[in-house]
Amino acid sequence: MKLGVNVDHIATLRQARGTIYPDPVVGALLCEYAGADSIVAHLREDRRHIQQKDIFLIKKLIKLPFNLEMSISEEIVRIACKLRPYQATLVPERRQELTTEGGIDLVKNYEKVKKVTKRLQDKGIKVSLFIDPLKLQIEKAKQIGANNIELNTGRYSEAKTAILQKKELKKIKEAAVFAKKLGFFVAAGHGLNYENIKEIAKINEIEELNIGHAIIARSVFVGIVVAVEEMIKLING
Ligand code: PXP
Repeated sequence: MKLGVNVDHIATLRQARGTIYPDPVVGALLCEYAGADSIVAHLREDRRHIQQKDIFLIKKLIKLPFNLEMSISEEIVRIACKLRPYQATLVPERRQELTTEGGIDLVKNYEKVKKVTKRLQDKGIKVSLFIDPLKLQIEKAKQIGANNIELNTGRYSEAKTAILQKKELKKIKEAAVFAKKLGFFVAAGHGLNYENIKEIAKINEIEELNIGHAIIARSVFVGIVVAVEEMIKLING
């Protein structure tokens, strides 16, 4: 199982004071050194953490695949076409939200997502769709022609009781099996931490996990290299 490290929250710390540090680009390089398999960053429309210059520098300096999380707004799509990351992951975005709240609804946004997917693919960018673990959404992703999907583990991560968490885990497992059968490379992420990762890591059909907040938070205490190494150990037993 591969680990993509999302470096957004290094930039959150920087933006909190308007300083030039800590630098998410340096963070990305250290994640690469620590053994991460890819680097993830989300250029939000409101620029609350990652800035445009960050993504261009990450793309230029890291050797690992760069996965740009992005909305389907025209401004961001244009930037992505210019940047040409290894992969773009399309996510829904709402300005008021604390973080991404759910998967992109491919039934409601079918035509828009299809157009953006094609535009990005025409630039040589692989497209992943961040969706809730539902059969219908996975089928739509296939019809759209996405290269990969990323299953939203947010509901599992936020479940308040063990019963609810088990129920959400089952949904993720079933969705991963279904997606794999359709030929998808299956990723998962959102809200994963050093505890709740253990059950998710047992799902063989999931090939990549994208984790940000928990790793960056832990790195405040143990340093980013150790925080990444610890997560890799948990993921790969
Ligand atoms: N995957 C996607 C699609 C996301 O939007 C995010 C949050 O930016 C993550 C993974 C990482 O989530 P977290 O920071 O909760 O680990």
